[in-house]
Amino acid sequence: MYIALFLLLQTVLGANILHIAPVGSPSHHIWNRALAFGLIKKGHNVTMLSHFEEKEKFKNFHIILLEGFFDKTYEFFSIDSVQPNKFLDIKTVYDLSLFSCEHDLDTQGFKTLMNYPKDFTFDLIIMDITIQQCLYTLIERFKNPPVVAVTPFLLPPVLSHLFGNPLQAAYMPYYNTLHIDRMSFLQRITNFLLIHSEILYRKYIVIPAESKLAKKHFGKNIQSFDEIERNMSILISNYDPILCFPLALPPNIIPAGGLHIDSVKSLPNVSNKHAISYIIQILQDLKTIVENAKEGLIIFTLGSYLRSDQMSVSKRTAILNAFAKLPQTVFWKFESEIDDLPKNVIIRKWLPQNDILGDPKTKLLITHGGGLSTQEAMYHGIPVIAIPFNTDQHSNAGKLASRSMAKILNYEDITTDSLYLAITEILNNPMYSRNIKQLSQRYKDREEHPLNKAVFWVEYVLRHGSANFFNLASRDMYTYQAASYDVIMVLLMGLYLLYSLISFILTSCKFIYHTVYLIST
Ligand SMILES: *[C@@H]1O[C@H](CO)[C@@H](O)[C@H](O)[C@H]1NC(C)=O
Ligand SMILES: *[C@@H]1O[C@H](CO)[C@@H](O)[C@H](O)[C@H]1NC(C)=O
Repeated sequence: MYIALFLLLQTVLGANILHIAPVGSPSHHIWNRALAFGLIKKGHNVTMLSHFEEKEKFKNFHIILLEGFFDKTYEFFSIDSVQPNKFLDIKTVYDLSLFSCEHDLDTQGFKTLMNYPKDFTFDLIIMDITIQQCLYTLIERFKNPPVVAVTPFLLPPVLSHLFGNPLQAAYMPYYNTLHIDRMSFLQRITNFLLIHSEILYRKYIVIPAESKLAKKHFGKNIQSFDEIERNMSILISNYDPILCFPLALPPNIIPAGGLHIDSVKSLPNVSNKHAISYIIQILQDLKTIVENAKEGLIIFTLGSYLRSDQMSVSKRTAILNAFAKLPQTVFWKFESEIDDLPKNVIIRKWLPQNDILGDPKTKLLITHGGGLSTQEAMYHGIPVIAIPFNTDQHSNAGKLASRSMAKILNYEDITTDSLYLAITEILNNPMYSRNIKQLSQRYKDREEHPLNKAVFWVEYVLRHGSANFFNLASRDMYTYQAASYDVIMVLLMGLYLLYSLISFILTSCKFIYHTVYLIST
């Protein structure tokens, strides 16, 4: 017994792991990288397929770069291409997927991995399955080791459904809406339609297209994507019931929301022991500015995708005029130069957002409402002004605003006055800060750090080779069966038939009665 346990533990020591993290979004990378380093710390060897270069070498961490992605003109998420239609917005995400797939399959990095010796094995594959299903074939290429799926994109219904989770459309707000978990009837209709549209769109349009792309590269006889997805062991997701709305989860979905967040006490302590040296430099550069910010700090960033320097000059001036009226120091992530900056505004091409948020002087985050940004604000208890543009930014903003931790501004509505009003409202009304600080305390009061939890579950799959025993039976059912739509349909049809039968009998009785009455008189 002890020997068996020992052997189990033995196999877990120093596993060789392939981490497929192909989503070309820095936030996905930050999250996946944090997970990878959690595993490296436990002695595993991680090879990560990524768009993001690593300038420094860390022991047991190997990046295979899918090069050239950011050289392409990439117009899906720009400041002026906001998609107002929620249904078409679903397509944006999958367009990005196909765009990236076409790119990645042609890279040198991809060929490097494909050219590994035929008998080279990985003990386990971790795959960010948010998009880019075309890379599923790598699983087959390395002879189907156990697969752990991950998603930093909180928990999209379409992915949780893949793992057998019931849809919960009545109270799981769809990610590109401002809905909260308590919806009106009309909102529930929209929510239902959006969730089901994505499931159908992914199943009948996206997966066949991704599969076609993969076949072009790997030949016709690749494993079916349905089968590969069905075989994935668990889904580790960036979901947490405090940061998001509460949901029911099956045992094969592991909530590890915020695993990338480290506590930081004050600048310039580097929050992450594995931080890259240029981050440390930036922190040192900002140190004096932070120390001299007597009236506190405000951070303004539109995340890693949207470029603030794409704004019209009039919009930029309106924003700067609002900032100039404030006593606080404002850090703005701005990708080029600005002449005549107000004295209290500091621009940098990149900002160590998590570290600044962790500084006690920080009073407010102005953000596009990205998943990781809102999680970091909640973690550090910093109130927010959200300017959502697309996808999950809407629901993240709604989540904070509905709990009075944030105000939402539409990008089109931003003027000097509207922005100044929103900022002063948040700074002067302690309710916002109080609410989000309370949430932060609740989040931090937890059994274990989500990173440890995620690492535990990866090792669990390594030890047991699979986690199929956790599957709800719904994972093998059609959506309409799992949601009992077929039962409801049949029952409604039955009711209708019964009603028709009764009306028929009643009409017939009346007819007979009248006939008999006529004859008898
Ligand atoms: C670690 O990963 C690298 C890169 O994939 C690989 O060359 C090496 O053989 C791996 N080491 C072990 C011990 O598996
Ligand atoms: C499913 O996964 C197991 C181990 O995790 C593997 O042995 C098997 O070949 C896989 N099957 C398919 C069809 O991927």
